[in-house]
Amino acid sequence: MGRVIAVANQKGGVGKTTTVANLGAALAELGQRVVLIDLDPQGSLTASLGYDPYSLTRTAHLLLTRERVSFGSVLRTVNERLVLVPASVDLALLDVEVSGQDRHAFRLRAAIEGSRVPADFFIIDTPPNLGLLTANALVAARELVLPVQCTYLAMRGVRGLLESVGRIHTRLNAELALLGVLATLYRPGSEHAFEVLQELRAAFPDTLFSTVIEEDDALAQAPAAAQTVLAYRPDSGAAGAFRRLAEEVLHGGKR
Ligand SMILES: Nc1ncnc2c1ncn2[C@@H]1O[C@H](COP(=O)(O)OP(=O)(O)OP(=O)(O)O)[C@@H](O)[C@H]1O
Ligand SMILES: [Mg+2]
Repeated sequence: MGRVIAVANQKGGVGKTTTVANLGAALAELGQRVVLIDLDPQGSLTASLGYDPYSLTRTAHLLLTRERVSFGSVLRTVNERLVLVPASVDLALLDVEVSGQDRHAFRLRAAIEGSRVPADFFIIDTPPNLGLLTANALVAARELVLPVQCTYLAMRGVRGLLESVGRIHTRLNAELALLGVLATLYRPGSEHAFEVLQELRAAFPDTLFSTVIEEDDALAQAPAAAQTVLAYRPDSGAAGAFRRLAEEVLHGGKR
């Protein structure tokens, strides 16, 4: 089975979905077979890759609610080495549908372990909260990527997430480890962003990725073209940054 990576932060708009799509595309460019999994009822990842979370019926929701659904039957193609498990808006109902049922946080893990899809990486996008969907991602994953927007308030929320991860680690998934903290939405020339980055370096000397994701319009525009930035603007700074991030992830993160 491939490496399973969850991208999570309970704060909204910090670049989780952007990271999943473009890290995945960059790993695929390096020859890796990558499965992206959209666990967010907002369906941003699904929509940004050109599929409609309002009309799809074979989605992550099916994998999480039915036992005998084959993993391969919900996959959508992005490119030769990149596929997507799409989200649908009914994921928002998962809590009421399965909470109280047996091992409801282990559903995604079971689906991935039972999948016969040949993959080097499964990368999971999560919603901006610490509910059942994020719990499923953190139970299924062995590695966590934590995107942090380079602002003071965003940085303050990181401890909270790491405490929740610690609890998941103790109670549900002892194999979960922090692969890296990723500085995102960095505004070059901003003194404030620079100071926050310095603080992140001090707080996470061993786990901050050396790649920093800067603000770049190409990243905001690519979803409207239903493409990753690597396809939409292959020569952009953002595409280069995600290629460097993919190298760090592939080689265990030489930081
Ligand atoms: N480095 C960047 N430069 C410019 N725009 C960006 C960058 N990263 C993300 N964005 C844009 O900012 C918005 C939020 O990013 P994204 O959707 O990746 O965050 P998120 O953490 O997944 O949000 P949510 O918590 O709502 O799921 C999107 O419109 C995205 O296109
Ligand atoms: Mg998102």
